[in-house]
Amino acid sequence: MQLTSIQQLQLKHSSVRRFLPRPLDPGLLESLIRCGQAAASSSFIQAYSVIRVTRPEARAAIAKAAGGQCWIEQAPEFLLFCADLRRINAACEGAGKGELEGYAEHGLAAVVDVSLMAQNVLLAAESQGLGGVFIGGIRNEPQVLVEQLALPKRVLPLFGMCLGWPNESNPVKPRMPVGFVLHQDVYQEVSAERIALYDETMAAYYASRGSNIKLSDWSTATATAVQGKKREHMHEFLRQQGFFRC
Ligand SMILES: Cc1cc2nc3c(=O)[nH]c(=O)nc-3n(C[C@H](O)[C@H](O)[C@H](O)COP(=O)(O)O)c2cc1C
Repeated sequence: MQLTSIQQLQLKHSSVRRFLPRPLDPGLLESLIRCGQAAASSSFIQAYSVIRVTRPEARAAIAKAAGGQCWIEQAPEFLLFCADLRRINAACEGAGKGELEGYAEHGLAAVVDVSLMAQNVLLAAESQGLGGVFIGGIRNEPQVLVEQLALPKRVLPLFGMCLGWPNESNPVKPRMPVGFVLHQDVYQEVSAERIALYDETMAAYYASRGSNIKLSDWSTATATAVQGKKREHMHEFLRQQGFFRC
């Protein structure tokens, strides 16, 4: 089967964390956001906002909060993607239906909306020759985002995105075999033997890459990563911002 140019672009994705000191051309950022907005949206709620962070002090505070990720300060663009229920709340109040309740389903719909939108932004950027990386590390200290960027209630900072012209090219990380994630008719557990084979593939990848060489595999790296990112404050933070209250 012949892959389209879009499929080829998708399959060569790798995150970029080092950038040339060159700004985006005028209008490019707006066109990327427009592509993001073209993503499907649950009930067309369009429950997202993107904050372009240009203030160096804010970038520095966010980089520190995200565990010292210097590319947040160095990237030509740093965007914060938020689930945003404020416009929906205003619509509810305007229609005389009262304040929007913080139902789990509304929060989930907003989180899905912003995620689809952000991936569209990154893909559009990559199609222009730009590179970027998502930054979930902002959830280490989400209150820093609230304070630095004046985020009101019903706006939930979910992840950032560094964008710019790449100054590095990383090898593509081998994804799990399609058979792990594509199930037919019923859920099919992946056997430990097949996971072990994927671990071997990932161990070879980690050992062979040019920088950040690791002696690890997918299972080990993942088990370690989730222990280090429990972010127990998130439960209370979600409630504070008006999400998932009931
Ligand atoms: C929601 C999300 C949050 C992420 N957070 C970070 C982050 O804080 N810092 C970082 O360097 N990479 C981050 N990444 C990038 C992942 O580490 C990366 O996508 C993954 O290892 C696969 O590598 P690839 O994008 O190069 O294929 C994040 C990715 C996603 C989707």
